Parts: sequence; C-alpha cells; structure tokens
Amino acid sequence: MVAAVWNGTVPDPALPLHAAGDASSPWVGLAYLVAGALFILALRGLSHPSTSVRGNRFGMAGMLIAVVTTVVTHDLASLPEILAAIGIGGAIGWIIARRIAMTDMPQLVAAFHSLVGMAAVLVGWAAYLNPAAFGILRSVGDAFTHPVIGAELTLWREEINPVSRIELGLGVAIGAITFSGSVIAFLKLAGRMSGAPILLPGRHVINLGTLAAILVLVALFAAAQPGATLPLIIAITVLAFLIGFLLIIPIGGADMPVVVSMLNSYSGWAAAAMGFTLGNTAMIITGALVGASGAILSYIMCRAMNRRFLSVIAGGFGADAAVAGSSGGEARPFRQGSAEDAAYMLEQAERVIIIPGYGMAVAQAQHALREMADLLKKKGVDVRYAIHPVAGRMPGHMNVLLAEANVPYDEVFELEDINSEFAQTNIAFVIGANDVVNPAAKTDKSSPIYGMPVFDVDKAEQVFFIKRSMSGAGYAGVDNEVFYMPQTTMLLADAKKMVDDIVKALS
Ligand code: TAP
Repeated sequence: MVAAVWNGTVPDPALPLHAAGDASSPWVGLAYLVAGALFILALRGLSHPSTSVRGNRFGMAGMLIAVVTTVVTHDLASLPEILAAIGIGGAIGWIIARRIAMTDMPQLVAAFHSLVGMAAVLVGWAAYLNPAAFGILRSVGDAFTHPVIGAELTLWREEINPVSRIELGLGVAIGAITFSGSVIAFLKLAGRMSGAPILLPGRHVINLGTLAAILVLVALFAAAQPGATLPLIIAITVLAFLIGFLLIIPIGGADMPVVVSMLNSYSGWAAAAMGFTLGNTAMIITGALVGASGAILSYIMCRAMNRRFLSVIAGGFGADAAVAGSSGGEARPFRQGSAEDAAYMLEQAERVIIIPGYGMAVAQAQHALREMADLLKKKGVDVRYAIHPVAGRMPGHMNVLLAEANVPYDEVFELEDINSEFAQTNIAFVIGANDVVNPAAKTDKSSPIYGMPVFDVDKAEQVFFIKRSMSGAGYAGVDNEVFYMPQTTMLLADAKKMVDDIVKALS
C-alpha cells in the first residue's frame, strides 16, 4: 500500500486564477514589460545630450510603474513601512545630490554601487532565511517503510529548489563583490586611500583561486542537503567580500573610471540574479540592462584609453605614475602669457578649438567659457569644442558641464570627428585638460598613458594652455611636452579667473 503525507496547502477553488493583487497576474507582466520598454527608451535617450532629459523622464516613469506594481502586488511589508523607507531613502538621496560637487560625482557613483551590492546580499540572505516568503520552495518526497504497519509511505518536506539556490548563491556572491569592490573604489577616488596600485605577490593565483572556490561552493550549495547549506552560504558571502577587495586594490587610479563602470555592470548582474530569486521580471530586465550597458561602457572606455579590459582587471596600471610626475623634474623653458595676449590672438584667429578637461570642472569655468566663445563667434571666429571620452573624471563629464552652460550641441565634437582638424586650426585652447592632449601617449612607450588616443593639439598653429602651475600634473601624473613647444603659451591661473579676464579683454 502506498500512502502520502502532504504538508502543503490546497488551493481554494473559489478563488479566481489570478487575483487582482496577484504577482503572477498577466497585468503585472504587462506593467513590467512597459517599465522595461521605458528603461530601454531611457538608455536610448541618454546616449545623446540633446535627448538626455527626455531619456531621464522615461527612466523615471518606468521606475514609478515598476515600484508601484511591485508594492501593490506583493505582500512584502505594510504600506506605511514602504512609504517610510521610500521617504527616508529619497530624503538622503536628495540631500546628497544637492550637496555633491560635480567633481566628486565618480566617488558618489561608486558609493551608490556599493549600496546596490549590499542590497543584493541582504535580499539573498532574506530569501535563504525565509524561502517561503519568496516562493522558492519545492516539495521533496522521501519514501520510507512504516516500521509498525509495514506500509510504503512518502514523507514530504520542503526545501529551497536547487535552481533558486544557484541564483541565490550567485546573487549573494556578485552583490558582495560589488559591495567591497565599490567601497575600495570609493576610498581611492575620494582620496581616503592611496590611488596607487597595491600589488600582492601571487595576486593572480589568489584571485583566480578564490573565484574558482566561490563557483565550487555555489555548486555545492545547490546540491547540499538542507541541513548543510548554512556553512556554504556563509563561506560564499565571506569569500565574495574578500575577492571584491582583492580585485580592486591592485587597480591604479588611472583605471578607476573603467572600474567604476565595471562595478556598475556587476551591480546590474547582481540585481538581475536577485530578480530571478524574487521572480520579479522588472528586476531581471533592469538588472540585465544595467549589467549590459555597464559592460559596454567599460569596453568603450578601455578603447578610449587604449587599454585591454583584461589588463585593467588584472591591475597594476599607474604603479609608476607617481614617480614619473613632473614636479620633481628640472625646470625647462616655456612661454607664459596673459589674458590680454590670449584675447588678442583669439580674436585674430579664424578657427579655434576648445579642449576642456578636469580643471574646467574644478574651476566651474564652463559659463565663462561659453561667454568667451559667444564673443568670439560675434567677431566671426569659428569656435568648436573637442571632447575626449575620458576627459574629466566620469563618462560624459564635459558634455554635462557644457550642456549646463547651454553650449549648442552642434559645436561639440568627439575625438574621432575633430582630431584631423587641428592641422587646419589657428588656436587650440586647452582649458584644464592635460592627459588627453599629452603627445607622450603617441610617442613614449614607457609612459603610463602610452597608446591612449589623444588630441593632436601639437598640430595647431598655436596652443593656449590654461592650468594653475607648472608643477601640477594631470591625472596620470606625467609631464606634458606640449607645455614646452615653441607654439605654446601657458596661461597660469585658475581657469575661471583666466577666462573671465579674457572675456573682459575681448569685450
Ligand atoms: P587631467 O589630466 O586630470 O588634468 C587636469 C588639469 O587641470 C591639470 O593640468 C591641472 O593642472 C588642471 N587644473 C586643475 N584644477 C584647475 C583649475 N582650478 N584651474 C585651471 N586648471 C586646473 O585632465 P584631463 O585631460 O581631463 O584627463 C582626464 C584624466 O583623468 C585621464 O587620465 C583619464 O584617464 C582620467 N580619468 C578619467 C575619468 C573619466 S571616466 N573621464 C575618470 C577618472 C580618471 P594644475 O593642477 O596645475 O592646475
């Protein structure tokens, strides 16, 4: 005789197949699909400054739909609790966004990624500790023979299904790597930890070994008996926190932008893994979009810096940069000019290309710069802006600042579209840029920026170069031959002050 002991619940036939607030209702799927489509439109909009505001609005609408749908259809917490959490989080975000200087944006982004990583770890642990609430249990029947009546019986028990365990293990691991990696990136970018690479002996073996160990542990976690899973998920969490730290410490400051974008990608994959655990389509779509776009951005940045992605991840770049800084070198002759000299030459020119960089952001000189360009245009000068993909300290940094100053988009050009024009240009006006115009990237194989595509300002008839002092180096910490070229005039001052003075002289 075969009997069954079943400890599940019987569905109530009186209930409709999909209740109104049911997370599996087709309406929920549709709402998430609309949210996903809006996120894709948001990414498309964000790919150009002229459409970025619209892109942001699509993203906000998509997120609103996703959040409202999730809150209404999931019995996660009470509405007041959810509203309180949104209120507290929103207020903190609002205060930080108001206070943060544009130049501190990269570290803020790194800090936010760490929160996404930690959220993924906490969701994973919540799902592990309370799997019934996440709907990831399965019933498993163990057959046994009753010792008294001799009947064949099946004892049913519930356990987290193995596929969910893989998703959960990977989600926790990616989240923990994102968390500790982002914390180190934040500390390096904020200058609270040296930007120099920390190179441990045998680090590649240690890193690969740890990553392999995490994958083996996830496999064991998926296959383990319910009583044996706790030590495995603890080990996965601890090792993943450790590897996030180990992966980022050897990466030098100059590669940090790629790392931040890579961590952005990780945080997306962590969210997607959690979306599988929670059975939440919107999270899977959003996570995959963030993961894929972060990976593409990392690739584009690597190409812009002529670095191979694997060599960035392997770390060590920039280890010698601090030593190679210009400050210690012997003084070389250079020509220095004044705002009046620059104004005089600029109004005589036919064609001027402005190359903004990090120093323009520090000085907040973009408004004065646009004023200067407007005056020159009125005098019949052809003025254009050239933006390097890694100018400043974050992707699109210069585009954002120029857009803020209402510089027309059709005057702004990317590196590959304008670089051939320097040879026909009277003045290359470098304002707070340095590495992105350094010819050592083309000529000096020993330079840490060798191979990075740079603007050919040396081909222009004349170069005006604004920076505050001859001792300050660019981000990579290397000297720049452009300072000493016969056609270069150094304008040594704060960028905003210098441009204000040029504007005065022009008007
Ligand atoms: P940098 O090479 O960093 O040079 C900045 C220049 O601005 C320096 O010459 C500095 O000289 C000058 N400066 C600083 N404050 C100034 C002020 N108030 N007024 C006038 N000049 C000022 O800039 P870049 O050419 O934009 O290159 C970007 C570098 O950063 C690249 O190496 C890139 O790899 C790296 N990076 C990029 C990103 C992204 S994603 N864009 C993120 C992190 C790092 P003084 O100190 O003498 O004034």
